Amino acid sequence: MDTWIGLMSGTSMDGIDAVLVSFQGQSARIHASHTIPYPDEIRHRLLAACQNQATLDEIGELDTLTGTLFAQAATEVIQHSGLPPSAIRAIGSHGQTLRHQPSGASPFTIQIGNPSVISEATGITTVADFRRRDMAAGGQGAPLVPAFHKAFFSSDTEDRCILNLGGIANITWIPANESSPVTGFDTGPANALMDAWCLDQTGLPFDSDGHWASEGTVNQELLSDMLSDAYFSRMPPKSTGKERFNLDWVKTQVSRHPDIPAEDIQRTLLQLTVASVVNQLPETRGLRIYTCGGGARNPLLMAELEKALPDAQLTLTSDLGLDPQMVEPVAFAWLAKQALEGLPGNLPEVTGASGPRILGAIYPA
Ligand SMILES: Nc1ncnc2c1ncn2[C@@H]1O[C@H](COP(=O)(O)OP(=O)(O)O)[C@@H](O)[C@H]1O
Ligand SMILES: [Mg+2]
Repeated sequence: MDTWIGLMSGTSMDGIDAVLVSFQGQSARIHASHTIPYPDEIRHRLLAACQNQATLDEIGELDTLTGTLFAQAATEVIQHSGLPPSAIRAIGSHGQTLRHQPSGASPFTIQIGNPSVISEATGITTVADFRRRDMAAGGQGAPLVPAFHKAFFSSDTEDRCILNLGGIANITWIPANESSPVTGFDTGPANALMDAWCLDQTGLPFDSDGHWASEGTVNQELLSDMLSDAYFSRMPPKSTGKERFNLDWVKTQVSRHPDIPAEDIQRTLLQLTVASVVNQLPETRGLRIYTCGGGARNPLLMAELEKALPDAQLTLTSDLGLDPQMVEPVAFAWLAKQALEGLPGNLPEVTGASGPRILGAIYPA
């Protein structure tokens, strides 16, 4: 049976998640998984590049360096699996987003992590650059995972919502009735703002288990100001990233409310994630919400989401047979499979593209 590798690093820039997987009908079997955290130096350089502090030379170097790390993640996940490289049909590599600007006169999205380096180092066909074709067809180029969610997580008997809590939060709503369209979009920040504020104030890249936030209380005035950001009330299709929701955004909000203790700000940012997700969900009564991504590991965030959704059932994608940390990398393995089989990878009703498109560029073995 063909096996596939998915490589993903999201807006959190915490590191590269790699998975080696095979697909059978509506199920994905994980043979091995592996994560390479970004070395601090690389994370700082990537963050600086996102903040427009990088020259073209620096961006070129980062493209090669991250490509090498993506290749290393692929090589190590193959070693963990015990399978020979010849058993792997292809690698789907998302790359590292430096900028995502889906609106404006000339929309664009930039992912680095040189795919030629990956295919050269592994000897395996690599598929990358998944977002730009959707964008060229008038779409947001994001989110792309809803097509995978639809293919693997739909049910005849219940409406399902998949909630991914990465740097950015995105939801996919899959009605039980197959003739109804799937809805999916980025709701706004999940961890991005909490991570940015935590790093700025404590030097730590994230607030482990929400401990620091739990020392603070929600400032309702700050929260309602934050919730008035136009992104939250915009109709889908929509997608966003660190170019909007970043430390500057937090500092601008906070500057209007002097003297709020730093831990209260952290706690308020957590509540912003909860409120912005919950406000943008469709009817929640009886809805089953399956969460995934790093935010699902934050017990305070999960408890607050549960509190805000008394009518819904909140669980993890593990209840659907897929490890919450592996959903995104598995989706990119599947997108590589779709590309090589000449099948579409986007859902036009989600991204707003003018039609289904085969996504990705192929870098042969
Ligand atoms: N134990 C934890 N407690 C709190 N937050 C966590 C924990 N583990 C992971 N996270 C959060 O999850 C983020 C990474 O999630 P991930 O799904 O990899 O996002 P992305 O797709 O943006 O890379 C981290 O930056 C951190 O904010
Ligand atoms: Mg990550």
